[in-house]
Amino acid sequence: MIIFKNIPDFKNHIRKLKNDNFRIGFVPTMGALHDGHISLIKKSILENDYSVVSIFINPTQFNDINDFKSYPNDISKDIELLDSISENIILFNPDADEIYSGKVFSDSYDFGDLDKYMEGEHRQGHFQGVATVVHKLFEIVTADNVYFGEKDFQQLRIIEDLVLKIGFKLKITRCETIRQNDGLALSSRNKKLDISSQNIATNLFKALSFAKKNFENLDLEKIHTNVEDLFENFPQISIEYFAIANEKDLKPIKKKKKNQKYRAFIAADISGVRLIDNIKLY
Ligand code: PAF
Repeated sequence: MIIFKNIPDFKNHIRKLKNDNFRIGFVPTMGALHDGHISLIKKSILENDYSVVSIFINPTQFNDINDFKSYPNDISKDIELLDSISENIILFNPDADEIYSGKVFSDSYDFGDLDKYMEGEHRQGHFQGVATVVHKLFEIVTADNVYFGEKDFQQLRIIEDLVLKIGFKLKITRCETIRQNDGLALSSRNKKLDISSQNIATNLFKALSFAKKNFENLDLEKIHTNVEDLFENFPQISIEYFAIANEKDLKPIKKKKKNQKYRAFIAADISGVRLIDNIKLY
């Protein structure tokens, strides 16, 4: 596997591959790779000649400096893992100076309602930071195909919107959330949970599954009350939000309408670790 830390060398390499008509897939990550990332990378490997994986913990998307400082980081383990998957992986692992040239701040984007609710409401500036770095990475990597997990569904919708706005010529593939057998969605942040907190965290998936099972037959208020009741039993879980929103505009709803695609979204703090998850309701 080839590893690049600086933009000019990386771009040169990609330019040569593109001149030879190779298809480039791209999986942007912040490292601490788990099976969710691996499934995206394997899909990219199947559908492209070369797959770029970026590992960059983006400072501008953290609204809490302690969260940034304690974000899991094990680059040697990640490199070992990527090395074992395929020789057609190109790792792009820049530092903040390389990406931001000393000006570590977000650009400003208008995503309408897409970044107003849920994560947008609870993590001020988060999506401006995500959009800024993804915009920069897309310009550097010039991939044909990019792969994002549905676990961060609001992020995925915002990036789809960014691609339309900027007019990037690339295809985004949505990839299903990978879960443990007990339902817990894979996340780099799970590494910060001990076993008992991981067990407790499975209640997020239980709440989402309840919403999915009962979405047709219960009214929304009842679903919300039942979910609140479920968490009464777990003082270790502090729910930030539980929302049912239209998949397209990501506006939480109060009333269901026919022929719409909805998802249930949840965010919670469990023993000091913030987790999010969502499930489609159709
Ligand atoms: O989902 C992530 O890991 C990050 O938000 C991303 C897309 C790599 C941008 O930093």
